[in-house]
Amino acid sequence: MFKAPRGTSDILPQEKAYWKYIEEKAVYLCQLYGYQPLNTPVFEDYQLFAHIAPDGADIIKEMYVFEDRSGQKLALTAEGTAPICRAYLEHGLFNLPQPVKLYYIIPAFRYERPQAGRYRQHHQLGCEAIGDADPVLDAEVIELMYRFLSSLGLSELLIEINSIGCRQCQPGYVEALKKYYSTYRDRLCPDCKVRLARNPLRLLDCKEVSCQEIITGAPKITDYLCSECQTHFQSVQKYLTELGISYQLNHKLVRGLDYYTRTVFEVKPEGKGVQIALGGGGRYDNLIEELGGKPTPAVGFAAGIERIIIALKNQNVIVPTLPKPVAYVACLGTQAKLEATKLVSRLRHQGIAAIQATGDKSLKSQLRQANSLDVKYTVIIGEKEVANETAVLRDMSSGEQKTVPFNEIASLLEKR
Ligand code: HAM
Repeated sequence: MFKAPRGTSDILPQEKAYWKYIEEKAVYLCQLYGYQPLNTPVFEDYQLFAHIAPDGADIIKEMYVFEDRSGQKLALTAEGTAPICRAYLEHGLFNLPQPVKLYYIIPAFRYERPQAGRYRQHHQLGCEAIGDADPVLDAEVIELMYRFLSSLGLSELLIEINSIGCRQCQPGYVEALKKYYSTYRDRLCPDCKVRLARNPLRLLDCKEVSCQEIITGAPKITDYLCSECQTHFQSVQKYLTELGISYQLNHKLVRGLDYYTRTVFEVKPEGKGVQIALGGGGRYDNLIEELGGKPTPAVGFAAGIERIIIALKNQNVIVPTLPKPVAYVACLGTQAKLEATKLVSRLRHQGIAAIQATGDKSLKSQLRQANSLDVKYTVIIGEKEVANETAVLRDMSSGEQKTVPFNEIASLLEKR
């Protein structure tokens, strides 16, 4: 028997109720905040992603890379920001009044070790505001992310923010961090030894217990920010406070992707134990330039749909069920089946969701199916009904039955 590949899952109909609920809220709020939809392909030129992180970075190691039949090296989309920036450049969106505000709901693929809330295919809602350095936009995307999650019914959300500086001030901090860590080199976990050489900021992100103590004593990046970055960060905080958004400063927050500058943030459910982020993002003022465009500041976030569903279930949030069919048309005999086929078609044309009994099931098993589909009405057509051009209409909740002429069933159901 085949199974879905490790780290992926099928989304069954009952699970789809969560997806519909989340996607509808997302679309509504994105539109409310002036973000427009932009869809990018499920695979991109490998080099696009290779640009966003140094060799050896997690995102590069985790990428699904393949060559197509022409020998072009491609990668399944690992995250949405780089493809959106590619599309922004490719379609000349920089010619529009800035910022250009875009959103997407996409699958993303990362070859991670599967565990609860960490999959090899996951889905993200992402929002990007491109072409403006105004700190009010940092606050806007944080507010949008928070409002999205809280409007779904999630509570006890913790927003953490930090600033990781810019090209001017970050190198000074990285030097200080390297100097501090060099005295602890022997005590570092194997991953941190690599991080120290390749990507020192990520040292602050290590989850190994043995490295935690070292992280606690590390210099704080906010002590090294240049005056522009400091002013920017203070403004973001001022706007958040004015908007009534509670947040905590976390000077260890550096995020898993390497394109960030200045503001970074994450939101997670509050509580004890290891809490995985429901969403995160930040500013990425150099990325578009690194992809071949003019210097273009930008900020955005993405939230993971599967993790949101886990949180909704943990917090016992009830979501609306998917719409159910209204009518089930049962029949007995060849002629009745013909009439049932015509009736079901007529109901569907009138916008009434209807299911037709198939095969040669007994009336009892047809009614059992109608019950399990949770329909409001069952229409029963037998030989007698065919002869009289009528059908029996059964209200499934009250059990009440009445005989109705064929040509009146659709309008009766429509009225009800
Ligand atoms: P990210 O933090 O890598 O950021 O992913 C965003 C969200 O996707 C995470 O907070 C998490 O909820 C979900 N997620 C990530 N990896 C997995 C996984 N393996 N399994 C399940 N869920 C996952 C980005 O991707 C950035 N592009 C966000 C951004 C947009 N920054 C600026 N603009």
